[in-house]
Amino acid sequence: MTVKIAVLVSGRGSNLQAIMDSIQKGYIKNATVNVVISNKANAYALERARNHGIDAVFLDPGEYDRDEYDRAILNVLSQYDIDLLLLAGYFRLLGNEIIIAYRNRIMNIHPSLLPAFKGLHAQKQAFEYGVKVAGCTVHFVDEGLDSGPIIIQKCVPVLTGDTEETLTARILEQEHVIYPEAVRLFTEGKLKIEGRNVVTGN
Ligand code: GRF
Repeated sequence: MTVKIAVLVSGRGSNLQAIMDSIQKGYIKNATVNVVISNKANAYALERARNHGIDAVFLDPGEYDRDEYDRAILNVLSQYDIDLLLLAGYFRLLGNEIIIAYRNRIMNIHPSLLPAFKGLHAQKQAFEYGVKVAGCTVHFVDEGLDSGPIIIQKCVPVLTGDTEETLTARILEQEHVIYPEAVRLFTEGKLKIEGRNVVTGN
């Protein structure tokens, strides 16, 4: 069975790129990205999707109220018969309707070692806090902010001489490793959620 994936984006789309490339190279098997949806008309991620021959949809938040907007997303997801929804730099909260409809089938990538440094500018928060180890997390999405069960985390040491920018760049490199890995585990049926705990096979 092919797992049909939709990706929600707002900007640059480097994580989307990593996932599309991993599918193309055969690292992730039995999966296709069928549609990319953005709340920003000029998101570069939309262009990346089109370059891969993937449908790119801009849904204008200005045209809907909050609940209607989520329903518009749900409409697209059902049009494309989506199995797995990925948030990849999607800078908007998902409404409960989507979370309920896609329970345990929505993932997000966050640039910190959760539960530390939730929300925006996580790398800056970590850097300014003075942590010695930063990192990134792929997790399932639940109703809370960056709070769902953790699938994979990767540590990134803070080095002498690091700036927020150099640290952010090294974290991003690791995001591009763990997000495809998490998607691969999902598509191979190797993720089992037990309460807050995600048990992974290889
Ligand atoms: C990444 O750092 C991701 O962890 C965060 O937003 C950024 C998106 O980058 N949620 P990109 O659009 O995937 O390049």
